[in-house]
Order: sequence, then structure tokens, then C-alpha cells
Amino acid sequence: MELQGRTAVITGGASGIGLATAYKFAALGANLVLGDIESGPLDTAVAQLRDTGAKVIGVVGDVAIEEDVLALRDAALDEYGAAHLVFNNAGVGAGPTIGTPKKVWDWVMGVNVDGVINGINAFMPLFLEQNEGHVVNTASLAGLGGVPGMGAYCASKFAVVGISESLFHELAMRESAVGVSALCPGFVKTRIHESTRNMPSAMKSYSESPDAQLMGDLGSQAVQAGIDPSIVADAVADAVLTNTFWILTHPRAAIGMTKNRVEWMKGVGGSIINLEEATKP
Ligand SMILES: NC(=O)c1ccc[n+]([C@@H]2O[C@H](COP(=O)([O-])OP(=O)(O)OC[C@H]3O[C@@H](n4cnc5c(N)ncnc54)[C@H](O)[C@@H]3O)[C@@H](O)[C@H]2O)c1
Repeated sequence: MELQGRTAVITGGASGIGLATAYKFAALGANLVLGDIESGPLDTAVAQLRDTGAKVIGVVGDVAIEEDVLALRDAALDEYGAAHLVFNNAGVGAGPTIGTPKKVWDWVMGVNVDGVINGINAFMPLFLEQNEGHVVNTASLAGLGGVPGMGAYCASKFAVVGISESLFHELAMRESAVGVSALCPGFVKTRIHESTRNMPSAMKSYSESPDAQLMGDLGSQAVQAGIDPSIVADAVADAVLTNTFWILTHPRAAIGMTKNRVEWMKGVGGSIINLEEATKP
């Protein structure tokens, strides 16, 4: 799908991968709708993109809330008369499998999984009717294999991979021209390790617990060693332009951990975790 003159909606567009992709899509001539829960950074992002000549609006909202995602779609239709691409990208990370309260699991699943479901439900009827459109869902390497210290995050990203694969097959069965991609990055230098900034206040005390702090510190080091978000943005744009399902910005780690998993299933190898590998393109 060409991006020139098309309308792209990006959730979590005020920071990191979403913001870098906004710049990339704008350079390719797309009209933009950025959604984010953080109004200050969103206003700044919109103003800075407009300074480059981009056509962009911002809509504050929570992707876990269906009405907020429908409002994103309506904003795109009101402003540009159409929508052609949704990048279900907003996401948060928190908590090891052991000791993470259920309400924190619910928060992670709400943003990372319900956010994707809400995006698909809001935009797919439109895309199917016009027989044109593309859905990009942000999963992670943590959606291709279990990672210690990231139980809730892995659960949510495995779900995103599963939803995306199912959607791929459903679109193929309908012989639809609508495309879908699953983005599975390793570590990327963004603010993901500071996700608790958007945590509902009722859970804040958990994020100050020693367990959460330790995992946060480890995550922070890995994220800071990660690749630049512009590399991810280039890969996302390429996948949309070529209608490619898998977006593997860290292919060695993605393929390596998948192969290793198959060996583990066959009983001829064990599971190996190499976080350093997940920082390299
Ligand atoms: N950075 C990495 O190492 C990495 C690796 C793999 C996958 N990812 C995924 O990439 C996506 C983007 O994250 P990022 O790394 O750019 O982090 P980031 O924190 O820089 O950006 C995430 C954006 O999502 C917004 N957001 C958070 N909760 C929201 C909600 N409920 N509703 C709307 N917006 C919300 C934040 O305000 C922020 O602007 C996430 O889905 C994340 O899980 C990141």
C-alpha cells in the first residue's frame, strides 16, 4: 500500500517507536492521527511534526477503552475523510510472573491486548468495505518466547502474535486486499522501561516494590543498549509498502530463539535466554 495521501492512525504516537514511525510516515506523504494517553508529550509531538510540514492531529485517549479508540477512528474520518492504516502500537511493560498482583497483569493485558483488539474492531469494518488498508500490531521478541521477569508482558505479546496470525488467515480466506503485520522488535531505545509513568495511581505502590525496581533496572539497561526507534520505523514502513507479515528488526535473535524453541519441543535442546543478543539488529 502506498502511503502518499493515505491516512495513518498510530496509537502510542507521542513517544518511542510510535513517534519515530509518525516521522517516517509523514516523510512518505501520509496524513497522521496520533493517539496517546499522555497529553503533554502528544501536544509536543504534534507541534514538532507540523513544523516539518506534516499533516497531523493528536487525540488523547486510552487504548484499553473501546470508546477512546472509536474516537480515534472518528477523528481520522472527520479530519481527512478516510483511514487506511492503523498501527496498534501503544504498550506498557511491568512485572515478573512471580509476585505481580493481578491488577497489574490486568493493566498490562488491557493496554497491550485490549488496545490491539479495540484497534482491529474500530478500523477493520472500514478497511474491509473499501478493500484497502493495513493493520500493524506491535508484539515483541517477548511474543516469540518466554523471558524471565516479564510474565505479564510475554502473555500480552504472545496474544498479539496469535491475534495477528489469525487475522492474516481470516483476510486470506476472504481474499481481501487488506494487509496485516506483526512487529516483533528486540530492545529499542525508548521510554518503555518507564511504563509505570502511565500506571493507574492505585497500583503505584507496586511499582516501588524491590522486585519491581530490580526488574525495572535490568529492563532499563537492556532498553538503553537497544536500537534506535528510527530503524523500527523504517522496517514498519517497508512492511506496509510490501505487505509483509513479520517485521523482525532483530532477525538473528527472533529466528534464533524460535529455532531453539523447536529444538526444546523436540527434546533435543534446552531453552536458552540471551538478552544481549536481543539488543542487536
Ligand atoms: N522499546 C522496546 O525495547 C520494545 C521492544 C519490543 C516491543 N516494544 C513495544 O513497542 C511499543 C511502543 O513502545 P515504546 O518502546 O515506543 O515505548 P514508549 O514508552 O516510548 O512509548 C509508548 C507510548 O504508548 C503510550 N501509552 C501507554 N499506555 C497507553 C494507553 N493506555 N493508551 C494510549 N497510549 C498509551 C505512552 O504514553 C507512550 O507514548 C509497545 O507496544 C512496546 O511493548 C518495545
